[in-house]
Amino acid sequence: MSTIISIADLAKHVGEEVTLRGWVYDSTGKGKLQFIKVRDGSGICQCVAFKPDLPEEVFAAAQKLSQESSLTITGMVKEDKRAPGYPGGYEVAIKTLTVISAAGEYPISPKEHGIEFLMDNRHLWLRSTRQWAIMRIRATIVSTIRNWLDDHGYLLVDTPILTPAAGESTSELFEVKYFDDMAYLAQTGQLYSEATILAHGKVYCFGPTFRSEKSKTRRHLAEFWMVEPEMAFFSLEALMDMEEQFVSAIVGRVLEKHRMELNILERDTSFLEKVSAPFPRINYDEAVVRLNKLYTESSDEEVKRLLRYDPANLPEGKTEGEYVRELRELLKMDWGNDFGSPHETALTQQFEKPVFVYHYPTAVKAFYMQPVEGRPESCRSVDLLAPEGYGEITGGSERIYDHDLLEQRIADYKLERKNYAWYLDLRRFGGVPHAGFGLGVERTVAWICGLQHIREAIPFARTMNRLYP
Ligand code: 4AD
Ligand code: MG
Repeated sequence: MSTIISIADLAKHVGEEVTLRGWVYDSTGKGKLQFIKVRDGSGICQCVAFKPDLPEEVFAAAQKLSQESSLTITGMVKEDKRAPGYPGGYEVAIKTLTVISAAGEYPISPKEHGIEFLMDNRHLWLRSTRQWAIMRIRATIVSTIRNWLDDHGYLLVDTPILTPAAGESTSELFEVKYFDDMAYLAQTGQLYSEATILAHGKVYCFGPTFRSEKSKTRRHLAEFWMVEPEMAFFSLEALMDMEEQFVSAIVGRVLEKHRMELNILERDTSFLEKVSAPFPRINYDEAVVRLNKLYTESSDEEVKRLLRYDPANLPEGKTEGEYVRELRELLKMDWGNDFGSPHETALTQQFEKPVFVYHYPTAVKAFYMQPVEGRPESCRSVDLLAPEGYGEITGGSERIYDHDLLEQRIADYKLERKNYAWYLDLRRFGGVPHAGFGLGVERTVAWICGLQHIREAIPFARTMNRLYP
């Protein structure tokens, strides 16, 4: 009997007879040889059937394999530096082969497919090497988030998904029937974490969050995963100190563990290698001045660089000159507005590391943010913008801890006081200065993996126009 092993463990079994169980990724014949690439979840390995060494029916079976058929293969492990695969460098000389289930004609072939076709077949597309690499990196990002927080004194305290009221903004709520009442899917766990810090000091919640944002961008999902640390006795400065350590740890862990996957994704890691504390910190006011200066003073070449112009995206019927003039207009910025994604891109193009932008206008942020002292039109908020055009990956702030001010805000934002009575209680019974932030997992995955679109950063994306599969 040969031992059943994983492809990832081939190196430990050179010269032994082993059994692999998996799926046919690809099969090509060449005379007396049949090369079968087998994947088993842990990797991809080339298995070779050599006609003279095999009973006729085994070789015939090897020649007939269709893509994605499931099978077991028994054979001898050989080291061969040139052998393709992941991790590669080993191949298996086939002795026997058993088909478990012969696959019908597989819709996803190595040729190019349109994105909607691939998303319709997401349940199958997840098997392809690129998607496999992304999901492995995603899993490490998630485990590093948990491990880092657990190791630094943060307690995981779960928050509800079904909630009676808005946590962020009333315009993006998904409603669900809740017995005879109405509930909303959580946009954030933050408000509940503000309760649990008063029991535990430093906490985090981590789960899916939901937003019915009517935006079809490459950065927005209707369902996404967010980790939200919340800390008692924390200032905005302490928050930035912590965030830069946290984000650096996540990037560092992926670089350490996933060279192979980053290679599969053809990710240029030069910017990722630079991610270490401290990150640059700029005030919103300064960011606005910078953008307007870029708008008026940049050469056309500089505008192209700032907005990551790609000739492939030149709209039909436009000259480059016309298009660059349009791009330049996107840099203009009035104080009081939120940044659009071109603003974020241009800002981050000036730095090699992620950048903090803090003290946004109060009017563009959520109701619970602490005003800047003596300047209530600005608030103690901070977003972290990722380089290479990825933009916001975290959003956070100091929270209002004065009862009366918070009560006033709830009224100003036309929220129903009775739904927030418990939240106001937190300010009646031992409120303290506190702060926290949320990091979007898919935005982080997209950035680290270098993805064009956030839909590949989650196994089954939910967007405005997609709920299938
Ligand atoms: O900036 P946001 O809306 O902040 C909050 O929800 C706060 N309650 C967090 C906190 O302070 N505890 O969202 C935080 C992050 C964003 O920076 C972004 O990474 C991600 O969540 N995010 C989205 N990701 C994908 N699709 C969307 N529609 C997202 N909206 C926000
Ligand atoms: Mg935000």
